[in-house]
Amino acid sequence: MKALNASKSLFLAYMEKELPRESPQNLYEPVRYIMGLGGKRIRPLLALWACEAGGQPQEKALPVAMAVEAFHNFSLIHDDIMDEAPMRRGQASVHQKWNNNIGILSGDVLLVCAYQYLAAYEDTIFKQLTQTFSATARWVCEGQQLDMDFPQQSIVSLSNYLEMIEKKTAVLLGASLKMGAIAGGMSLSACESFFEYGKNIGIAFQLQDDFLDAFGDPKTFGKQLGGDIIENKKTFLYLYASTQLKGAEKESLEAHYRSQPKDALKKIEAVKALFEKADAIKAIKNEMETYLDRAFEALNTMNLADNHKQRFSELAHYLVQREI
Ligand code: IPE
Ligand code: IPE
Ligand code: MG
Ligand code: MG
Ligand code: MG
Repeated sequence: MKALNASKSLFLAYMEKELPRESPQNLYEPVRYIMGLGGKRIRPLLALWACEAGGQPQEKALPVAMAVEAFHNFSLIHDDIMDEAPMRRGQASVHQKWNNNIGILSGDVLLVCAYQYLAAYEDTIFKQLTQTFSATARWVCEGQQLDMDFPQQSIVSLSNYLEMIEKKTAVLLGASLKMGAIAGGMSLSACESFFEYGKNIGIAFQLQDDFLDAFGDPKTFGKQLGGDIIENKKTFLYLYASTQLKGAEKESLEAHYRSQPKDALKKIEAVKALFEKADAIKAIKNEMETYLDRAFEALNTMNLADNHKQRFSELAHYLVQREI
């Protein structure tokens, strides 16, 4: 997508200028490291495009784009500590390259930077932005805590899971759009419809993340494959398989999810085979379609020019088909 690359370049040039360069090095180098590792830059893109859909230049949403990307990267530094994940975007995660303490504090400072970027807006816009941003940040923490609680919880339903991923992942995509739209001066109802669209693509996006964590291509994925299985994460694949499998197979899946072997390769292979046996791949793809449809419904209620609608619709398809 050409439009995607142009907006990404605009964002990256701005980011280069705005990243902190002060000392101490052990605080700010990890910040520049994680922000420089790449990634898809989806959240900034959503902010820039929403602003432009409101008739304003993308440049107006650059501080919002920086804030949401900084917040996202803060959450990833801490998430990798919590998930004991050694790899991020094909490189060592921050705590792996430095240590947990450095990960905690560089993550914290990145969160503070996110708020400072928003201070570029005048008072009334700033207030609206921080209200949305703070509410979203609390949801992300709530979702992340649910994600951490579920492995120890004996009963987790599909609706518990959906609430968890809506909070830990989807609302930040929604907020990126909504905040871009606020910066672009759009109406309250347009801001809310963007949030709804973003939340639904965000749910589909996290479903694809769960799928790739088990079945992604190690050459492109950029994270440790099978990390969710190692950590006994109650993903859609697990929850669906545990309702479909019966007898010895169900027992085997559940036993694997009570274990934490030192060498996890056998466990990962066995659990993936059970997911396939239960047809969980087809089910997760269907579930993604459901949320994609809801996203399009929200998009269609909006009074957007066709070229903007088409761009958001292509992006939604790209996000659920992605391999990284
Ligand atoms: C990873 O997000 C964390 C999730 C919420 C699934 P992304 O897949 O957007 O990560 P990057 O920024 O592109 O690396
Ligand atoms: C990440 O969920 C959500 C947040 C960072 C809040 P995951 O733990 O699934 O993300 P990845 O797979 O490590 O990127
Ligand atoms: Mg993780
Ligand atoms: Mg996690
Ligand atoms: Mg994941």
